[in-house]
Amino acid sequence: MKKCLICSSEVEKFIDLGQQPIANGFLKKEQFKSEYYFHMEVAFCPKCKMVQLVEQPDREQMFHENYAFFSSTSNYMKEHFHQFASSVIKLQSLKEDSLVVEIGCNDGIMIQNFMQEGIRHLGVEPSKNVAEVAKSKGINVTTEFFDVKLAEDTIAECGKADAILSANVMCHIPYMHSIFEGIEKLLKDDGVFIFEDPYVGDIIQKASFDQIYDEHTFLFSVMSVSYLAGMHNLEVIDTEYQITHGGSMRYTLAHKGRKNISDNVEKQLQKEKDLGLDTLSAYERFTDKVLVVKNDLMKLLNQLKDEGKKVVAYGATSKSTTVTNFFGISPEHIEFICDTTPTKHNKFSPGAHIPVIPYEKFRESNPDYVVLFAWNHAKEIMEKEKEYMESNGIKWIMYVPDVKVVD
Ligand code: SAH
Ligand code: TYD
Repeated sequence: MKKCLICSSEVEKFIDLGQQPIANGFLKKEQFKSEYYFHMEVAFCPKCKMVQLVEQPDREQMFHENYAFFSSTSNYMKEHFHQFASSVIKLQSLKEDSLVVEIGCNDGIMIQNFMQEGIRHLGVEPSKNVAEVAKSKGINVTTEFFDVKLAEDTIAECGKADAILSANVMCHIPYMHSIFEGIEKLLKDDGVFIFEDPYVGDIIQKASFDQIYDEHTFLFSVMSVSYLAGMHNLEVIDTEYQITHGGSMRYTLAHKGRKNISDNVEKQLQKEKDLGLDTLSAYERFTDKVLVVKNDLMKLLNQLKDEGKKVVAYGATSKSTTVTNFFGISPEHIEFICDTTPTKHNKFSPGAHIPVIPYEKFRESNPDYVVLFAWNHAKEIMEKEKEYMESNGIKWIMYVPDVKVVD
């Protein structure tokens, strides 16, 4: 019997994605033998509505000095975070002596905007290599995991925060009560805590099961975040839908009773009820859809293999680790994955061991088909590759929300 990480009720499992490696654990051949695996299953809590991993590797196995995800690889995301920062500066009327804390600032993609405006800031980033990139930009960074202890240390050193921000990080952290306790302490009386993460509503509707991997402990909804906030004298005062990462939700929280609550919150809660996100059956239907995608994609890849077509992939994403390992995709199906991230180059993808090559070689490779693993950046990537793909008759293979070949 497995207990909910938030409310300790018994959870209900709805998908078993099998044995999975570390999603960002790109590795060399000599490391294949010692590759770490865990059993990846996802469950729904009928009481607090939180969707969560049943088992997860230790945090140090995922976030360390060789972390492979660098936020600034997408120009679109740079602009997204520029706008996010501008909206916070306006909302909280931030001045030079205000304090902004960002949890999981990675290479500084968002917090650099506060630094550039001369606003007092602190980035919290435990993965040393990406934190170093942020530091090299002149950003103040502490290379630690955020938790209640770090919140207390920050108060002692810098005082309380006007805004605490986080993007694509909260859903990575199983010890949520320590995080929320820390936020309750660190936030000024009129401060706001704003975070965004992939939205479970989109994941369910688009069957984008690849948002499930070792780092993603939680798939949040407004329902589950409201429950969690309520356990720590905080409340959700606004929600804003974002198109990033295939559909995300931005949650604004404040101390209970301190700020007006936007109508958006009630409207979104109603949408979630309409989608059935408070019932197990919605998640079971999702599992059925995922199995259809699995069947369709493998049928296509096997057929292309038999026809001797050259199939490669674009974007060595963490998400693709779930896809390749759950579906059983091997280097026989996909010759290589191209990616712009230097630390992933000349290594192999976790579990499936597909070679990862520098992006520059993509245009020399002349494939017949390209599986778009970075489908959440489809607009940016398809625009960039339009001319090359069209002039060489190369086709994209997409699998979210269903399998299709795109000219
Ligand atoms: N905010 C960035 C990075 C997201 S990747 C973006 O949206 O692109 C997730 C990041 O969270 C990693 O850099 C990881 O090191 C960091 N992280 C994981 N656990 C954390 C914790 N407890 N406190 C602060 N950061 C954490
Ligand atoms: P992303 O989908 O943001 O994240 P995750 O690892 O969380 O699933 O990762 C995008 C990956 O795609 C990253 O490794 C960089 C790569 N990429 C390219 O190679 N070219 C591009 O134009 C873009 C936008 C990303």
